[in-house]
Amino acid sequence: MQSIPFLNDDQVREIQSTYGTPVYVYDQATLESQAKQVLAFPNAFGLTARYAMKACPSAAVIRVLSSCGLHIDASSGYEAERALRAGVPPSHIQVTAQEFPHNAKELIDRGVLFNACSIAQIEAYGKIAPNTSLSIRVNPGLGSGHSNRTNVGGPGASFGIWHAYLDEALESAKRHGLTVRGMHTHIGSGSDPEVWERVALMSLEICSTLPDATVLSLGGGYKVGRVKGEVSTDLQKIGLHIVEAFRASAQKTGRELELEVEPGTYLVANAGAFVATAMDVVDTGEEGYHFIKIDGGMTEVLRPSLYGSQHPIEVVMTDDEPRRMVEYVVAGHCCESGDVLTPAPDDPEALAPRLLTETRIGDAVVIGGAGAYCAGMSAKNYNTFPEAAEVMIGRDGSVELVRKRQTIDQILANEMVPSFLE
Ligand SMILES: Cc1ncc(COP(=O)(O)O)c(C=O)c1O
Repeated sequence: MQSIPFLNDDQVREIQSTYGTPVYVYDQATLESQAKQVLAFPNAFGLTARYAMKACPSAAVIRVLSSCGLHIDASSGYEAERALRAGVPPSHIQVTAQEFPHNAKELIDRGVLFNACSIAQIEAYGKIAPNTSLSIRVNPGLGSGHSNRTNVGGPGASFGIWHAYLDEALESAKRHGLTVRGMHTHIGSGSDPEVWERVALMSLEICSTLPDATVLSLGGGYKVGRVKGEVSTDLQKIGLHIVEAFRASAQKTGRELELEVEPGTYLVANAGAFVATAMDVVDTGEEGYHFIKIDGGMTEVLRPSLYGSQHPIEVVMTDDEPRRMVEYVVAGHCCESGDVLTPAPDDPEALAPRLLTETRIGDAVVIGGAGAYCAGMSAKNYNTFPEAAEVMIGRDGSVELVRKRQTIDQILANEMVPSFLE
């Protein structure tokens, strides 16, 4: 397929008929080649690259990336547990979480690393693991994301310890005998490469004032182009600028800082696609729109409804008859006007019809760029639609199920009838 290089029409038809739709499809070879690029991130004194597993927490994806040599960035205690269950060694997992993990003690005892995101978290960590070491997340005062909702740096963001409160943070660590072995920043998803570089330099300045720091993590956030006109960040280019700065800093301070990066999107966005089926094709008259209604939507690919994000879309016909092209709005299956896969760029409120192959009921509709923040960030079970299945295409071209479709029993499993309604 033109916009989804790892899939062809025959594979889509095969997946549609074997596994049913809606279904996510991941590609092992694409994951591995993205991992290779991240592991080649330029560095002066060593590199640890983590996969920000929130982007796509499927155990199969974690297994592929972990066996390439990537470590894990977990954003909750639950994610850390999920990575452990997928076979990642504890020492390869670092938790950077807004909420102090409910299972922090158990994780720390097993050897999982911790990155404190506030002074209260340093205090909490210090109480359960005094006289050990940790890293701290700092808000350096500047952020950048593909939208305000993914900008997590600067005065409008609650993420990390505000740079001016660093002394207080170090005091808190000292009180508990904690060594601050590393500093971490992450300024947003889809960040502007120039802002990212500027923040990297600011972070390096701050990190070199931490007496015991040996590691600086510059987070993730590297842009990925999903549709024509969107440009991916050149990791080699931004990395090489940073290498110089790390060297210069080492000359000044005598400390050779190891670099960490932790992309999510960059590793998985274009290694995943979402296959749905056209259930209905309707229009709203001469002055209106043509709509394709699919058997998926914001329950699987929420980004367009949330941010006005653009994903490539292709139709795979059930037959080989020549068909014309038609401008369509692609609508999801939820009873919600916002469940649309073709919003205007960065404006989820506006419709932007897409020129697609004339579609008939039963055709497959494939959404590309669906590896990151789709299966892991859906409006799950809205309208009681079950969680979609996931399959992976192996390096040898074979396709296997990596998550079954949820059942209605699983959706309802935890519901109870209170005695006053019996
Ligand atoms: C702490 C942290 N690191 C890494 C990432 C990954 O960001 P991206 O998927 O944009 O690379 C995120 C995403 O929100 C994050 O919060």
